[in-house]
Amino acid sequence: MEQQARYEGRIIENADEVTPAVLDAMAQAPNARLREIAAAFVRHMHAFAREVKLTEAEYDIGIDFLNRIGKATNDRHNEGILFADAIGFSTLVCLMNNGNNGATETAAALLGPFWRMHSPRTESGGSIVRSPTPGPELFVSCTVRDGKGAPIIGAEVDVWHASPVGMYENQDESQADMNLRGKFVTDAEGRFRLRTVKPAGYSVPIEGNPTGDMLKAQRRHPYRPAHLHFLLYKPGFKTLVTQVFVDDDPRLKTDVVFGVTRALVGRYESHNGPAPAPEVASPWYSLDYTFVMEPGEAKLPIPPIK
Ligand code: BEZ
Ligand code: FE
Repeated sequence: MEQQARYEGRIIENADEVTPAVLDAMAQAPNARLREIAAAFVRHMHAFAREVKLTEAEYDIGIDFLNRIGKATNDRHNEGILFADAIGFSTLVCLMNNGNNGATETAAALLGPFWRMHSPRTESGGSIVRSPTPGPELFVSCTVRDGKGAPIIGAEVDVWHASPVGMYENQDESQADMNLRGKFVTDAEGRFRLRTVKPAGYSVPIEGNPTGDMLKAQRRHPYRPAHLHFLLYKPGFKTLVTQVFVDDDPRLKTDVVFGVTRALVGRYESHNGPAPAPEVASPWYSLDYTFVMEPGEAKLPIPPIK
C-alpha cells in the first residue's frame, strides 16, 4: 500500500511560504497522477503571478473571465473548449499526443467545440446536405489505412462542417437538424465517399463571450480557414480526430485556433467538365484524401455540445 504523507500544515508568514504550503497540502492525494498534475499546476500558476506581478485588480478580472467562460457554456455552446482553442492549448495537447508523442508530423487536429454524437448514418456516396445549402458541390473520396498500407475496413467516420455562410447547423435556425453532418463506414477497400458543398472559412463566436473579448483586445481576426472535420473510430486503432483544410484559403497561416499543419492541407480540385452526377453545376470540386490510423485505444471524446 502507498505510504500516505502526514500533512501538518503551517501558519503562513509571508508570500514566499504560500507555494510550499499549498504543495504540502496537496501532496497527500493518493492518486499519483493527480498529485503530479495539481502540483505542477500550482507551481506554474504561482510562478505566473510572480512573473507578471499580478495586481489585485487583475486578479479580479481573471476570476471574472473564468466565471464568464462557465456561464457562457451550455448544451449548444462550449466556451471552455473555444478558449483553450484560441490560446493554442488544444492544438498543443493534440500534437503532443499524436504522431510519435509529438516527435513527427501527425494527421490529427483539434476536435473544436462543434462535434455532436449520433450523426445520421449515411451510405457511402450519399449527401450530408439535409436542407437547402448554397455553395459549389463537393465530392469527397477517402481511404483509411494502417501504417503498413492495409485498408481499415468497418471504421466509423463522422464528418461535419460549417455551411458556406459560416455557421454549424446547431448555431443556425435556418438549417435542418444535423445538416452537414454524417456518419460513414469504410468498405472492404477502406474507402468511403460523400457529397456535400464546399466549406467556407468562418468566424468563431465572438459576440458577448469572453474568448471574443480576448481576441478583440489582442487585435486578432476570429476566422478559421475552410475545412471539413473527420473523426475516425475503429477498435484496435487510436481514434483519429482531424480536419482537412481547403488549399486556396487565404487564412491557412493565421487560423485563429492554430489548427493547420502541412499534412492537413487537402487538394480541393476545381472542375468545369462533366460532374459525377448529372444535375451538378460547374464549377464543382473534388477532394481525395487518405487517412492513416495508428494502433491504439479507440475512445470517443466527451461531446462538447449535445
Ligand atoms: C471548429 O473548427 O469547428 C472550431 C474549432 C475551434 C474553435 C471554433 C470552431
Ligand atoms: Fe470547424
